[in-house]
Amino acid sequence: MKDIQIKKLIDAEKKRQKKVINLIASENYVSKDVLEALGSELTNKYAEGYPGKRYYGGNEIVDKIESLCIERALKLFNLDPKEWHVNVQPLSGSPANLAVYLALLPPPKFVPPGTKDANGVAITTAAPAKIMGMSLDQGGHLTHGQKVSATGKFWQQIPYGLDATTEMLNYDQLRELAMKEKPALIVSGYTAYPRTIDWARMKEVAVASEAMLMVDMSHIAGLVAGGVYPSPFKYADVVTTTTHKTLRGPRAAMIFVRKDSRELDKKIDKAIIPGLQGGPHINQIAAVAVTLKEAMTPAFKKYARQVVNNAAVLAEELKARGWRLISGGTDSHLILIDTWNNGKKNDYGVGAARGAGGITGKEASERLERAGIIVNKNGIPFDTRPPTDPSGIRVGSAAETTRGAKEKDFRAIAKRIDEILRK
Ligand SMILES: Cc1ncc(COP(=O)(O)O)c(C=O)c1O
Repeated sequence: MKDIQIKKLIDAEKKRQKKVINLIASENYVSKDVLEALGSELTNKYAEGYPGKRYYGGNEIVDKIESLCIERALKLFNLDPKEWHVNVQPLSGSPANLAVYLALLPPPKFVPPGTKDANGVAITTAAPAKIMGMSLDQGGHLTHGQKVSATGKFWQQIPYGLDATTEMLNYDQLRELAMKEKPALIVSGYTAYPRTIDWARMKEVAVASEAMLMVDMSHIAGLVAGGVYPSPFKYADVVTTTTHKTLRGPRAAMIFVRKDSRELDKKIDKAIIPGLQGGPHINQIAAVAVTLKEAMTPAFKKYARQVVNNAAVLAEELKARGWRLISGGTDSHLILIDTWNNGKKNDYGVGAARGAGGITGKEASERLERAGIIVNKNGIPFDTRPPTDPSGIRVGSAAETTRGAKEKDFRAIAKRIDEILRK
């Protein structure tokens, strides 16, 4: 590379990545093949539209790439192309979720104040559709309808949270809320929820309240692909996912949608282009295709199993050292540690006293970073501290497992974390 300034910075970042222990739950390390696809000449090509239906010429090869990506995406998750459609063009997870809402719940047409109909009767803008999504402070994502996100400005979020005692989903409470509010769409799949989600129960809630069910499996996609986390496809109308977390691909996203008389598949495609995006990033789509092929291998299945085993060991070791974990543990790659309750031995979190004067999430993440362990500060359910300096940290096992870490390494990591935070 001739640009020495950028080259130096890339090299420095490479070094940083090698040097640290990376416990950011949403990050991972891609293969050389994925990097090669991302850095290829495919980035030069404009390809607005879909395979066989492009606005620009010269897309015969690009069409093959996107079609292959689609074929692999459906195959990886055992989906029949007659029953499921997938759009592989979303640039990332947030625009994918926005596209789903635009497709399924078109915002009402704006009616200027003072407008009257033909009979002189005043008319106003209709109320936006309701999206029932988990609130940010309980583990949901911004794009699940939070006020500060576009998804909370164009639609009305009906926020839900966790059971205050178990810090897990309480499906009876969810059902009650859904029956009262009658949302148009229920969103499941989260950013900071360590446990297994009972998709069948989520579906029951959606059916009872006549809502559609969207699953955002961004965090767990690699675990689902590897067969170590239940698949949501039997139950959801739409499934979105980023490709760069446990799935170990480039930064991108996909939208899977059921093909039926509602024609949601056509609506989703239209929401992506012309609704929200222009030309897809073909280099990114090729990199996703490479990722999907890698995820079909026995080695990836082994990886996914190791990710979950490593997180389980990390959780057990932290608990044994007296750390309170949200919901008492994990079933996935992700753990939420209540650092504020530093050193309080309890029966694994349930009903533990809060605000015991430990260290804040901000201080914990800064201390760990100084010691070469990268995590993110994170709110815990029912947090009494502000989001900028919350009560906990979030850690995950996916990135270090890619680098070959096994149970013994995670035992050592737990010991290190304990030593650093207890100083
Ligand atoms: C559950 C979930 N959905 C969506 C996203 C958004 O993805 P992106 O950062 O690619 O926009 C994230 C990212 O953290 C996420 O955790």
